[in-house]
Amino acid sequence: MRLYIDSADVKQIARLNEYFPIAGVTTNPSILVKENRPYLEVLREIREIIGEEKELFVQSIGDISEEIVEESKFITSELPGKVIVKIPVTDEGLKAIKLLTLENIPTLATTVYTAFQALMAAMAGANYVAPYVNRIDNLTGNGVNVVAEIAKLYAAYQLPTEIIAASFKNVQQVHDVCLAGAHTVTVGPDLIEKFIAFPATPADVADFKSQWQKTYGSDKTSLVNS
Ligand code: E4P
Repeated sequence: MRLYIDSADVKQIARLNEYFPIAGVTTNPSILVKENRPYLEVLREIREIIGEEKELFVQSIGDISEEIVEESKFITSELPGKVIVKIPVTDEGLKAIKLLTLENIPTLATTVYTAFQALMAAMAGANYVAPYVNRIDNLTGNGVNVVAEIAKLYAAYQLPTEIIAASFKNVQQVHDVCLAGAHTVTVGPDLIEKFIAFPATPADVADFKSQWQKTYGSDKTSLVNS
């Protein structure tokens, strides 16, 4: 299981990258335009923060395969480190994934709503596939079930494509896709912060500290000075 940050907010990325076990950052056009400044400048800052080993995902916006392939080569030449191009699963997107696979350029098939889209993307050679869990739920589908079906198909056909489950609105959805067989997840900063937020934990920590200080003295704040 790997955890990616689904954001282009450099302050939040820097904080999460320092505290959480982060494997990289995913973006999409909606996420990048929120920053309201040149997108390459934003992506280069993200790269500086996460370093060259962690993956950075950038989505194509071209409509036809030739444009998508051109964008993919452009973006991987402009940014250092591991860059993965996200490509929507349209017919032109699938063709682009096939062409890029032939050139060993890694891809993520995105905007996935059905297990069969995910199957086609994997057969075309995508390294990752991103089912949109919450958006599926909003269409009265079941995002977690779609992830489970993709995992089953990939296992049945021994396809090496990894599921990077995306589009979450609550921690329960993330928890459920992990159990359903998602290899990795990409999650917005606010939700990642909630992963470890449980009121009993800080309350227990305060109790331990207070018991310690009652015995050893209120100035004893650590094992080192006790
Ligand atoms: C990630 O790669 C997707 O673009 C993203 O998770 C979509 O999330 P949303 O449905 O919250 O916009």
